[in-house]
Amino acid sequence: MKIKNLIIFGTRPEAIKMAPLVKQFESFSEKFETKVCITAQHREMLDQVLSFFEITPDYDLDIMKPNQNLYSLTSDIITNLKPVLEEFKPDYVYVHGDTTTTMASSLAAFYSGAKICHVEAGLRTFDLNAPFPEEMNRSVTGVVTNIHFSPTETSKQNLLNENKKQDTIVVTGNTVIDALLFSVDKVNHPNFKDQEIEDLKPFLDNNKRIILVTGHRRENHGQGFINICNALKQIALEHPEVQIIYPVHLNPNVQKPVYDLLNSIDNIKLISPLSYPAFVWLMEKSYLIITDSGGVQEEAPSLGKPVLVMRDTTERPEALDAGTVLLVGTNTDEIINKTKELLLQEDTYFNMSKLHNPYGNGNACTRILEYILEDSNKISHNN
Ligand code: UD1
Ligand code: UDP
Repeated sequence: MKIKNLIIFGTRPEAIKMAPLVKQFESFSEKFETKVCITAQHREMLDQVLSFFEITPDYDLDIMKPNQNLYSLTSDIITNLKPVLEEFKPDYVYVHGDTTTTMASSLAAFYSGAKICHVEAGLRTFDLNAPFPEEMNRSVTGVVTNIHFSPTETSKQNLLNENKKQDTIVVTGNTVIDALLFSVDKVNHPNFKDQEIEDLKPFLDNNKRIILVTGHRRENHGQGFINICNALKQIALEHPEVQIIYPVHLNPNVQKPVYDLLNSIDNIKLISPLSYPAFVWLMEKSYLIITDSGGVQEEAPSLGKPVLVMRDTTERPEALDAGTVLLVGTNTDEIINKTKELLLQEDTYFNMSKLHNPYGNGNACTRILEYILEDSNKISHNN
């Protein structure tokens, strides 16, 4: 009998980070029956990723609503997963990271009795309000998880400090590096053609240094985003030699302030969220990245791109220690001052733009598969 895997995800970053794992398990189809369930907490931004990685979900819960709230999101996921779990009866359920999909799916999987595998386990800020609600999501997921796949020794240690058992934690590296290396190879291949990249080229001014911006964190909604936009505006006006490219997240709480405050500035280009290959291409072209994204903080060190992180705290201390990223919060002056420093001081820029790979070498999914093979063999021997 084949081992039954159910891989569940719902948002763009989960999809990017789970796509290589889906492919890895699919390549072992003689041993595993692997099904993909998307909650579709995100819709367009999720579909972009599925399309690039050529993944057709077996189950699509299709739950996204405009400007959705955390209450209905949580209950919709749990309720809609029940028939999927009852029909497929997976042996292993895989969830990723810290979204509401992650937390609610892990609870549903717990009710079903499946073995829960948490990919990207053990990240912590130790502040339940930052990031909100992600710190709670990953902590709750950790409580019901059977196998914790931690990206780094630091995240493993966080779990040990919570009294998780040593033999339930496996350090794998982060699967985002698997996805990134696959995509960098693809994007740099001479035969690779991507319409979105072609459409972007005429807008990029080759004489200017590109500052790439992304942002979406819930705790930055409201005044945080106003401060961020004011900083970007001042940087653009004072530095005509830079071009700010900002693929704006589809959350209406982000779209409104960003388009209201930044739409009419010559050297700021607001665009729709990019598909993953186009975003990777643009990261490589950029001089500097300003973001509050978790995934981008992990990708940038592997690309040697300095990152200013618009948050007060991070669950990813490895890149901070490596010196590639710097926390600037959402204080307008702090964002402006650090950006200017990187634009004007070569030494500072050079020190931050060295290549590092604290998040792995791109073989996280192989390690996960090997561990599950071992674990499932133990189960078959005991039966
Ligand atoms: C979610 C996650 C966050 C993750 C982020 C990645 C939660 C609570 N938040 O935040 O942890 O870092 O995704 O981007 O799990 N929308 C669309 N189309 C899309 C995606 C979003 O229109 O493809 C709009 C919808 O109006 C939706 C809103 O954005 O209701 C918010 O989406 P939601 O997933 O609740 O929050 P995010 O800010 O995207
Ligand atoms: N990303 C993308 N297109 C974009 C912006 C980001 O493909 O227009 C990718 C980025 O490379 C990273 C992931 O999306 O892998 C980060 O997603 P997001 O910032 O939405 O979520 P977070 O990582 O903060 O949870």
